[in-house]
Amino acid sequence: MVQQNIVRVVNPNDLEVIRKSKNYLSRIVIRDGLVLHSKNTDELIHALFPTLPTSFTVITDSTVNKTYGLKILGIFSKIAKTNLIVVSPGEKSKTFRSCLKIIRELSRLNVDRDAVVVLLGGGVVGDLGGFAASIYKRGIRQVHVPTTLLAQIDSSIGGKNGVNTADGKNQVGTVRQPDAVLVDPKFLETLPSSQILNGIGETIKYGVIASSAIFKSLEENCPFRVQDLSRLVEPCCRIKARVVSKDEFDLNFRSILNYGHTIGHAVEASSHYKLGHGLAVMIGMLCEGWIARELGIFESSDFTRQNALIKKILPKSTAPRLSAMASKSIRRYALGDKKNTEGKLMMSLPQKIGKMHSTATGSYRIEIPLQMVEPSVAYAKTALNTEK
Ligand SMILES: NC(=O)c1ccc[n+]([C@@H]2O[C@H](COP(=O)([O-])OP(=O)(O)OC[C@H]3O[C@@H](n4cnc5c(N)ncnc54)[C@H](O)[C@@H]3O)[C@@H](O)[C@H]2O)c1
Ligand SMILES: [Zn+2]
Repeated sequence: MVQQNIVRVVNPNDLEVIRKSKNYLSRIVIRDGLVLHSKNTDELIHALFPTLPTSFTVITDSTVNKTYGLKILGIFSKIAKTNLIVVSPGEKSKTFRSCLKIIRELSRLNVDRDAVVVLLGGGVVGDLGGFAASIYKRGIRQVHVPTTLLAQIDSSIGGKNGVNTADGKNQVGTVRQPDAVLVDPKFLETLPSSQILNGIGETIKYGVIASSAIFKSLEENCPFRVQDLSRLVEPCCRIKARVVSKDEFDLNFRSILNYGHTIGHAVEASSHYKLGHGLAVMIGMLCEGWIARELGIFESSDFTRQNALIKKILPKSTAPRLSAMASKSIRRYALGDKKNTEGKLMMSLPQKIGKMHSTATGSYRIEIPLQMVEPSVAYAKTALNTEK
């Protein structure tokens, strides 16, 4: 079944096109300074919401709130009554408990079904607040204002949200498209370099799964300046929007976005979430890339190229942190991954840089023998411990 009108990247300078794009479930607007330096953000919001919401509720974390809270409240409160809900920063907030706190706060503030929630922050705020908004009164509208590289190019687009449970990452969640995503790379200027690195993990992923041009640009620009990364935001968003529009509910093609994530999430969980998502995904790509090469799917020269870039980017401290993790624990979490079916380990693997593998029947997911996980982790441990 071909799905239409899911996500569209719209031109911020053409408000008429934005108004007409209302039959898309989600609109993505990208421009340097779009939120932080624009004088007509309220016109943009009017174009996105011709029937104005009864209120806005900005949900953010305390770190982002310190720098940007007032500015964002100022923008939205010019249009309608605007509330603020602040959560603690970091992955530890992605729980049912925090979600319930948000829901109770929304009730206390009398937020009704015609209101809009504004998710200002990184992937944690987006996933947690997006989940709360998607179940509060059976779901209210949401706008993402992503402030990390990872959130701008990945987590704010596509409608997936959720919280972690004791069994692993993102075990509970929904798919609900945000009405709009306002992407302003200017936010990246205050982002600590460790968080920039997290986003780079996903940028490499886009390069491997869909764009040799993005991959080449990363190779050429490493070590990165914020301007170089800002230029990659829009091409990455366009890939994500295209993939999600083809397969919103992850029936097949959307699984290409999970490259590096089956083992990446398992590494993240094994580190008790101390290792950032993007770093874990880079390790996941080393492991899953190895599996793809062993299975004769991934071209050997491209596997080497992928790993050379990842090794150049990963901080030296990653090697001892990975070495300290038991491969068995990683295997256990990988088997519990929600992308698996009937207890079988499923992965999406690359064929070459810029192209994912699909089977003769057109499936982008293939079954992986469970016994390949531990050797793949052993490979990554050795690769990271050898000289760059
Ligand atoms: N829903 C999806 O499709 C999807 C996709 C990828 C990742 N994710 C999820 O995203 C989460 C990771 O997101 P993240 O990497 O953005 O982490 P994050 O949300 O924890 O943000 C990282 C840190 O940066 C701070 N921060 C945010 N913006 C800042 C700015 N502009 N300046 C200074 N500090 C800033 C935050 O306060 C936080 O401490 C994970 O939970 C992951 O599972 C979801
Ligand atoms: Zn990811």
